[in-house]
Amino acid sequence: METTLIILKPDAVQRGLMGQIIDRLERKGLRFVGLKLMQVPRDLAERHYAEHKGKPFYDGLIKFITTSPVLVMAIRGVDAVAVCRNLIGATNGRKAAAGTIRGDFGMSAAFNMVHGSDSAASAQRELALWFKPEELHDFTPAREGWVYDPSDLK
Ligand code: RTP
Ligand code: MG
Repeated sequence: METTLIILKPDAVQRGLMGQIIDRLERKGLRFVGLKLMQVPRDLAERHYAEHKGKPFYDGLIKFITTSPVLVMAIRGVDAVAVCRNLIGATNGRKAAAGTIRGDFGMSAAFNMVHGSDSAASAQRELALWFKPEELHDFTPAREGWVYDPSDLK
């Protein structure tokens, strides 16, 4: 089991897409272990996106992510990082494959609705930034015995 950080960015919240995006993640069989709506403080945005500091889109990205509330989610499943990145799709909505969240709902490279951790190491770093340990809930939803075959969990 792996836990990944997913953020529904201000455009997703403002456009009323939270439910549809959550539905895609939930029906896939992923487990929601943490979830909160928040206004992002600038210092948290800068720590989260530290790898992009100095890039041409960095200032706009920090302004975008701090300008209106986001929905922050910790999502757990087997290979959850890669599974979520596949569901989210390529960065630019105009190029993202149909069937992905960005491919189906977006037209922008910057306003692309969803953040997903890009590796297990990033997920660990990001989860520690966004959630306190007591905000993550360790439980097994009843359906999971039918989502996974026991051999998936070895
Ligand atoms: P994310 O980190 O949000 O999951 O997205 P990503 O891995 O697909 O893309 P990344 O390269 O990490 O870029 C982070 C976010 O910066 C904005 N961006 N804008 N205008 C542009 O060309 C541009 N490029 C990136 C996007 O919001 C992107 O998700
Ligand atoms: Mg990224």
